Amino acid sequence: MNPDVPLQLLGGLSARVFLRDYWQKKPLLIRQALTDFHSPISPDELAGLALEDAVESRLVIEHGERPWELRRGPFAEDAFSQLPERDWTLLVQAVDQFVPEVADLLQHFRFLPSWRIDDVMISFATPGGGVGPHFDNYDVFLLQGQGQRRWKIGQMCDADSPLLEHADLRILAHFEQTDEWVLEPGDMLYLPPRLAHYGTAEDDCMTYSVGFRAPSAAEVLTHFTDFLGQFLPDEERYSDAGAQPSNDPHQIQRDSLDRLKALLAEHMGDERLLMTWFGQFMTEPRYPELVAGTELAEPELLDALGQGAVLVRNPSARLAWSEVGEDLVLFASGQSRLLSAQLRDLLKLICSADALHADNLNPWLSDEEGRNLVLELVKQGSLEFADE
Ligand code: SIN
Ligand code: CO
Repeated sequence: MNPDVPLQLLGGLSARVFLRDYWQKKPLLIRQALTDFHSPISPDELAGLALEDAVESRLVIEHGERPWELRRGPFAEDAFSQLPERDWTLLVQAVDQFVPEVADLLQHFRFLPSWRIDDVMISFATPGGGVGPHFDNYDVFLLQGQGQRRWKIGQMCDADSPLLEHADLRILAHFEQTDEWVLEPGDMLYLPPRLAHYGTAEDDCMTYSVGFRAPSAAEVLTHFTDFLGQFLPDEERYSDAGAQPSNDPHQIQRDSLDRLKALLAEHMGDERLLMTWFGQFMTEPRYPELVAGTELAEPELLDALGQGAVLVRNPSARLAWSEVGEDLVLFASGQSRLLSAQLRDLLKLICSADALHADNLNPWLSDEEGRNLVLELVKQGSLEFADE
């Protein structure tokens, strides 16, 4: 995609300008980012999802049994009829994994790396409803789906920003408002990480949050070193051949630290393993149990495709690809697979196509490596046969 084309979703900014001036830096209000936008899911359907075990949901009731009461789903069918008239919000996580029309909205965000996208959370709020002034550690696009929501934005926060005493919610003790807008369906507000914000419903309203994921530094270090450790033999150890005699046997000398730093640098600098770990980590599914896979033999796959079957990405799967030296690697739902450079177009197709079928897979079905790749992805569950 051309990064210099003005995008309606970004209010006429190009991806390049948005990334340069706003992404991770400052908020952007976009009126009618999506024109004639009608929420593809109704409040009742959202409430229905919140009854299901597989779905993460929360209710925040401002004047509940205690201020800002949090209840966690799955909810019982009568849970919503017993709520107050106003001032509460239902939030449902990762609706894109359960409602294809919601997943389709992510097509508009292709100007950002798909592996940075976390999920589409949808909230339904009664008048006055909100989750309190807070900040998030990730970027978010808040798309108004139905009704009106008043968004106030405030200061940049950090780990030291004072919070209200609350066991479950991170509500800011101080909110220093800098701006305020009422969003209508189709309007969208981009917020960078750590910017204080406070949304309240003007009427019954639904808000879509397209959230992004970025591993914390602590996650990167602990997970990557765990991963690296699997490849290192027990025999490889701290070693100090050539050590100088020391005056005091109890002192750990500076040269020991230098040896340790050299050991760390040698392994931390292994780009092949770093890329492999990163791709696997960033494609780990939110709900691994929904990427189950099926047993399938190659002749069955070829038969099915020959008869017009269509393969689609499992909505719970995540796919990405990269170059590792001369090779290519496909990351699929937390696993990686090294492939030869000639499969580049197949990898791109698998990651981006809405559907895979005999026509677009044709050039690769006669190639053993290509055929095998498609088969493995179906067996692993990242690809699945479309229903019809
Ligand atoms: C909401 O939709 O009510 C909350 C979204 C957010 O503030 O992150
Ligand atoms: Co937020």
